[in-house]
Amino acid sequence: MRTQAVLYADIHLELSWSEVELPERERTKHVHRLHPYLGKFVPQLVEVFLRRYAQPGDLVWDPFAGSGTTLVEANAFGARAAGCDISAFNCLLTRVKTAEYEPAKLLGDVVQLAHGGRPEPRPEASAYVGEWYAPRALTELLAFRDRIAATAYPDLWRVVLSRAARSARLARHDDLDFPAEPVRFEYFCHKHRRVCRPVGEAEKFLRRYVRDVVQRVHEFATIRRSSDAAVFHEDARELDPPGPVDLVVTSPPYPGLIDYHEQHAYAFEFLGLERRDHAEIGRGVRDYCEAVAAVLRRAGTALRPGGRMVIVVNDRRQLYDGILAAAGLRLEDRLIRHVNRRTGRRRGEFYEEVLVAAP
Ligand SMILES: C[S@@+](CC[C@H](N)C(=O)[O-])C[C@H]1O[C@@H](n2cnc3c(N)ncnc32)[C@H](O)[C@@H]1O
Repeated sequence: MRTQAVLYADIHLELSWSEVELPERERTKHVHRLHPYLGKFVPQLVEVFLRRYAQPGDLVWDPFAGSGTTLVEANAFGARAAGCDISAFNCLLTRVKTAEYEPAKLLGDVVQLAHGGRPEPRPEASAYVGEWYAPRALTELLAFRDRIAATAYPDLWRVVLSRAARSARLARHDDLDFPAEPVRFEYFCHKHRRVCRPVGEAEKFLRRYVRDVVQRVHEFATIRRSSDAAVFHEDARELDPPGPVDLVVTSPPYPGLIDYHEQHAYAFEFLGLERRDHAEIGRGVRDYCEAVAAVLRRAGTALRPGGRMVIVVNDRRQLYDGILAAAGLRLEDRLIRHVNRRTGRRRGEFYEEVLVAAP
């Protein structure tokens, strides 16, 4: 029987990459950096388990798809991918990352988006946008939103709009994840270690992100081996996967840590997406175990014989032995991974666990 120490040593070699072994540009390669998303796992982690437990053509399922890391990697590997998320924005992002794009149509869209004429200021919108955007930034974002309607790939450009809307908020540069209140005056910025000014425009972000996104989807198109991906905007407690599953790779939300709707509040506002905050698991500790167990039980029932479930967790509350038992799953391995990339205010040692389970 292997001890925890031995497991740690094994896995330390395989899953705990240093910054030199796995630099940021590799962790955020091609479509993985289409849009910021707090709380995703590194694609290389998914790659390791696809190689270990899946074959090309298999169905890989992620009931908590988030920004789509599992689905993108499954397609890169040559597997069919399916995922579910309660956040409409996360579903949009995952669909956009896994979609196919014709280069000529992409180019046509870029031209269309660049020639919109001079935006007119106009009254708009919700209290939220009035509070969080300078007038010029808001005008530019709304003008871009109008131009999207006539493009071939509106969802792709909606993701660009959201990314620019995130950058153009009246938020401190050192507090972009969950800014507490708008900044209207110069402030000392801890990220840039100097005095910074609130953002006044959006056009420069829109131009930069259009270019960046085109390059990233082109890059992914050259390496992917499957484009079979299905994304469901549902509560994973109530949804069965779309067929027998060969491998599950997922990371459930952790209790009380990240509000997945709120982190993209600006996207819900600009894109007019429906919020389902009430059904988001992990907003509190109450009912957390029951909710995650319900999701994992459904996934376990859909697993083919011999199939595995890989669950990435931060189990400092030691909830997962009970959750797996309640889901009818048997723990095969509990692997500890050192996460090296905490930066800025979130610097510090950070570990996550990778649970390998089967029915
Ligand atoms: C830790 S994140 C997953 C991140 C993902 N592994 C990635 O790399 O992007 C957990 C996700 O679970 C989603 N979620 C929370 N409650 C849910 C529910 N009831 N049904 C489906 N998804 C849910 C959240 O919206 C969030 O995107």
